[in-house]
Amino acid sequence: MSFSHKSLIGLRELSSEEILFILDEAQAFRKLLERDIKKVPTLRWLTVLNMFYEPSTRTRISFELAEKRLSADVVNFSASTSSVQKGENLRDTVNNILAMKVDMVVIRHSSVGVPQFIEKKTGVPVINAGDGTNEHPTQALLDLYTIREKFGRFSGLKVVILGDIRHSRVARSNIWGLKKLGAKVVMCAPKTLLPPHPEVFGVDVTSDVEEALSGANVVNVLRLQLERQDAGYIPSLREYRMFWGLTAQRTKLLDPDHIVMHPGPMNRGVEIDPDVADARDAVILEQVTNGVAIRMAVIFTLAGEMRG
Ligand code: CP
Repeated sequence: MSFSHKSLIGLRELSSEEILFILDEAQAFRKLLERDIKKVPTLRWLTVLNMFYEPSTRTRISFELAEKRLSADVVNFSASTSSVQKGENLRDTVNNILAMKVDMVVIRHSSVGVPQFIEKKTGVPVINAGDGTNEHPTQALLDLYTIREKFGRFSGLKVVILGDIRHSRVARSNIWGLKKLGAKVVMCAPKTLLPPHPEVFGVDVTSDVEEALSGANVVNVLRLQLERQDAGYIPSLREYRMFWGLTAQRTKLLDPDHIVMHPGPMNRGVEIDPDVADARDAVILEQVTNGVAIRMAVIFTLAGEMRG
């Protein structure tokens, strides 16, 4: 099958077949990452612009590595060291960089809808590296890849998304993807950290952490977004850990065949205890490795669409 999108904006708009297509493409790139020479000459003709208006470690570095391993040329833009600081707006910034003949844009921005805006205004393929609280599609694809690597399937799996779902684009992209692929998804958070209308996602919702974790195959623990807690969503970090944190004791409630995931960055001792994050059943660094392969697959697929 072909992938019928010019850009990757979110998993909400992809079919289950398109999601599986990307996961399958990523398998070959994942094998490549184990070789001595981790590079292929495939996309020597492509120039990719990585635009980060928000901080990032994993996503920014893995996009750059993915592009370099496909032999694309890479341009990195960071808002904090650019003429944005002199007042240049987003549209002018993008148009000026594209005037230097860039073929594809990867963007992270704090505002929902910026990736679509850039695609619409420029006509260039865009990959969403996280827009506000909306979507983070490549994170969800690497999470799905990691789950399939462990279990070989999605149907019949109970996947718990635990933590600050209200502010999480990772949660939203995971929910759209997991639902399409047939997993049973449970959202678990204190009521203040659930999205305003959780029922629109069509998944199970609970604030009972023990009930949520009981018999689960996957728990994906979300970062408590400390920079967005001014509104008093939680009484204190200590109480958050006590009532919502993933502790070793709580992991005993999971199915014996389970994995623990976290998209990073972690607040150790808040949403996840250090011994849980470093335990054998935690696949947090495998997620990061798989992220390079997933981003290679996404760039390769969209570049293929450009060439017809
Ligand atoms: N998971 C994730 O998006 O991490 P970064 O913010 O470090 O890119």
